[in-house]
Amino acid sequence: MDESKPLPTPEEDAALTPIMGHALQRQVLVCTSKSCTANGSEAVLEAFKAQLIAENLLFYKGNRSGDIQCITCGSVGFCAIGPAVLVYPDGIWYAHVTPEDVPEIIESHLKGGVPVERLVRKRLG
Ligand code: FES
Repeated sequence: MDESKPLPTPEEDAALTPIMGHALQRQVLVCTSKSCTANGSEAVLEAFKAQLIAENLLFYKGNRSGDIQCITCGSVGFCAIGPAVLVYPDGIWYAHVTPEDVPEIIESHLKGGVPVERLVRKRLG
């Protein structure tokens, strides 16, 4: 980094970064590292994105007013029990998630605030 160049202000960064000014409700992180991918995490990711887009809930380039961001992440240590899906700010880590589980997670947890207990394997905080 150029030490002589001052760090941009938060306002300058916000002008370049639409997500800073938007009140996201939740982030869904789907692990797409090696073991989770081998267990089908790409299909889980696509199932989340497809349903969240269909319900106008996904924050992405095509919808800057969506309340939920869904992104990939690297390994979190659930390699033997993946696909791993993490939901923040709740700090809920799911394991063994399949595309068939996605509608229940969206309905119960993302929309209703109630985690799907049969898939929860870790809680942060
Ligand atoms: S590969 Fe997904 S948790 Fe390790």
